[in-house]
Amino acid sequence: MRQDTSDLRSRLRALPVFPGDLPPFEPGTASPDPIDQFVAWLEDALEWRVPLPHAATLATSSADGDVTARTLTLKDVNGRGWWFATRTDGVKYAQLHENPRAALTFLWRDLGRQVRVVGEVISAGPDASAADFLARPPHSRAAALLGTQSAPLSSREEYVRAFEEAKRIIEHSPDAPSPHWEAMILQPRTVEFWATTTTSGQIRLQYTRESESGEWSRTLLWP
Ligand SMILES: Cc1cc2nc3c(=O)[nH]c(=O)nc-3n(C[C@H](O)[C@H](O)[C@H](O)COP(=O)(O)O)c2cc1C
Repeated sequence: MRQDTSDLRSRLRALPVFPGDLPPFEPGTASPDPIDQFVAWLEDALEWRVPLPHAATLATSSADGDVTARTLTLKDVNGRGWWFATRTDGVKYAQLHENPRAALTFLWRDLGRQVRVVGEVISAGPDASAADFLARPPHSRAAALLGTQSAPLSSREEYVRAFEEAKRIIEHSPDAPSPHWEAMILQPRTVEFWATTTTSGQIRLQYTRESESGEWSRTLLWP
């Protein structure tokens, strides 16, 4: 095991976190609705060609408090919330059944921005799940049919054999949905927009949905 990590430590410390030139963010002009504000920032990320602007980290936990996190792809965002899709035989799905509360975090480094969404995850239902599965390219559909997600795999050969078999199944039944694929929606309870600026420090703007009225309230947070 590595004992002396001083060289690694100094190289990590020397890495730049954000570029020098960042877009402005004026929280006073933010939308009253966090979904509209998110879409505006997502459009900026697309325009600035941020790599993987639709990738986010989803954190979930089991009933007894074990926490896991993984990268996911955002499929949509609308009045119902943030949409993603997953297999139903993996860890995240099992944890979401035990505890539907989850957190989804986006990092758009080139813009100096982060968005944190916290809320409850629900199923988008069988029709949306089938539509999401069928919209995947054939090799992604094949990959989603293989084995049991997150279960131990005995060898790469076993995977490759199963992948070839799954590709044949997809070729023969291109319109068949997977019974193990589900579209899901994170319904937001809080949404936080974090931005760093070139000259005036950091900004955190948090939206909270009021439980009584369903209205969004907004507050700045100390960075
Ligand atoms: C860029 C990227 C995008 C991914 N998109 C998804 C996705 O949309 N849905 C998904 O279930 N897994 C996706 N994965 C794989 C997950 O990170 C994870 O490995 C898998 O879902 C198993 O996680 P779990 O066992 O915690 O459920 C993606 C991984 C990467 C690196």
